[in-house]
Amino acid sequence: MSFNIELELQRFPKIAALKDGAKAALRPLRRDDEKEFHALFLSIPEPERMFIKHRVAEIETIRDWCQNLDYGRNLPLVGLLDGKIAGVATLHQQLGGWKRHIGRVSVLVHPQFRGRGLARALIGEIIEIARQVGLEKVEAEFIGEQAAAVKMFALLGFSQLLRLENYVKDMQAVSHDYILMGLELKTDEEYAGVGG
Ligand SMILES: CC(C)(COP(=O)(O)OP(=O)(O)OC[C@H]1O[C@@H](n2cnc3c(N)ncnc32)[C@H](O)[C@@H]1OP(=O)(O)O)[C@@H](O)C(=O)NCCC(=O)NCCS
Repeated sequence: MSFNIELELQRFPKIAALKDGAKAALRPLRRDDEKEFHALFLSIPEPERMFIKHRVAEIETIRDWCQNLDYGRNLPLVGLLDGKIAGVATLHQQLGGWKRHIGRVSVLVHPQFRGRGLARALIGEIIEIARQVGLEKVEAEFIGEQAAAVKMFALLGFSQLLRLENYVKDMQAVSHDYILMGLELKTDEEYAGVGG
């Protein structure tokens, strides 16, 4: 599967036109992005950062990610505007086990660059990559308060699979509802088989 992903990544960098006509460059995260990538997480207001699963305000967390890139497991696709990392969408894969056919998508956009279509562009690319590497479904996880993100994923075709009350805890150990959304992927072969 990681062979396929390397092949898929040859399409990048890629330019995406945003709603206002601005052009964002999309490409996989690189080892030398450490400082810029950390700056993206620092731009997220503290209350919102509490909902992120990892200690992203700490440079050590980001350094670890940048120095141990393994696109077959976690593929962070960054969106750059004026040379600055304005957002990221990541495709997470389990390399074995029950969920090996399901990719997980997460996304984050710098508050200053929201509402311009960057998340839509990044997630669109991640879904295409997921399809090309043979995944059958993609899912996304949220806490109850992330209503805007849930609405956005619904617009992109995801449906709510389940909601569990007070199921997860944020970085301050406060309990929240857990929401799982999912999208079925159709592979090219399945399309080719239609009517055949
Ligand atoms: C959710 C988030 C990624 C959206 O990023 P964005 O770049 O502003 O989103 P886009 O501009 O691409 O919007 C995509 C669609 O969602 C809709 N949307 C985006 N934010 C919305 C909001 N706050 N309320 C309602 N709809 C919203 C847009 O209208 C757009 O639909 P359209 O193309 O039909 O107009 C961003 O707000 C964010 O980083 N939030 C915090 C992190 C988070 O919650 N991540 C999700 C968990 S994985």
